Amino acid sequence: MNFAHRTIAPEGQVRTSKHDALPCVSTKHTVSPSDWKGIVNSAGDIPPARCTAERLRGILAQKGSSMRQVIEICSCDPALAAKIMKVANSSLYGRQRQVGSINQAMMIAGIPIIRGICFRACLTQTRDGWGDIPQGLYQHSLCTALACQLLACKKGKSYSSELYTAGLMHDLGKLVLWRQIPGDYGNIHKLTQSGLSNTEAEAERLGYSHALIGALIGKKWSFPSEICQLVICHHGAGASELDAPLSEKINLLRLGNLLAHSLGLGDSSDNSGADTTLKHVANTLNFSDHEIGLLKAEILKLYTSKLHMLTISHTGS
Ligand SMILES: [Fe+2]
Ligand SMILES: [Fe+2]
Repeated sequence: MNFAHRTIAPEGQVRTSKHDALPCVSTKHTVSPSDWKGIVNSAGDIPPARCTAERLRGILAQKGSSMRQVIEICSCDPALAAKIMKVANSSLYGRQRQVGSINQAMMIAGIPIIRGICFRACLTQTRDGWGDIPQGLYQHSLCTALACQLLACKKGKSYSSELYTAGLMHDLGKLVLWRQIPGDYGNIHKLTQSGLSNTEAEAERLGYSHALIGALIGKKWSFPSEICQLVICHHGAGASELDAPLSEKINLLRLGNLLAHSLGLGDSSDNSGADTTLKHVANTLNFSDHEIGLLKAEILKLYTSKLHMLTISHTGS
């Protein structure tokens, strides 16, 4: 069963087909890997990266801890950023427009809420551990976010902050799948090391993609429908059906993701055929080979300057 071409309609509804009638078998303790609805419905908060939690613990334990550092960490970790986006977009704030950028979400949520989220995230870590989530996945998300922001700036777009957030969220589905079905998703991860693309391995073993799961989680957490569209299309499926401005954003996100993979920073298990696709997407966006080379160098510099956010500090700050 292949969900590769599923898209989310502009109002945020998933366009369904007869394939939606998958069995919804959920047990008390586990969820079946084929039960994508059960996986989405039962998904709770995702733990932050191990190093993020370690770093936060050190900062929050200090008297008069620096919220500037906490905020910077939250904008680098996809799990914490997703939680803040979820809270800022909840009915609690009664906003008429959904919030599409992590910076704006943090302003809406405010310091006490952010501090509470970080405390709880650290406690969850102590209680539940990280399971099998590869830590490189968090770093890949950060690298993609930085690449997306840079690409939007290079194109003179006003939405660089929103595209950064979409980059940070683009593989949310993978984090959820590692959390919910670690054994099965671990087997998919192994298949990608033997030459199969991640998309092919997911289609073969699950019948749906992490892009679909990420978009559905975004919808469940009331993210703007545009972020959900970007997430579901970040590997290209369904993008051609969308209008030109959205299609351009998707191509920028795709390119950001492909550049992060090509640099080999963080988790790069999704890298099969990436070079050919990168060339194609870069051409679509009118980036020359020379410009792509320069972009890679800039992304590497940006990523290196931020990597300490996702690295354990020995000084506790
Ligand atoms: Fe992906
Ligand atoms: Fe990715």
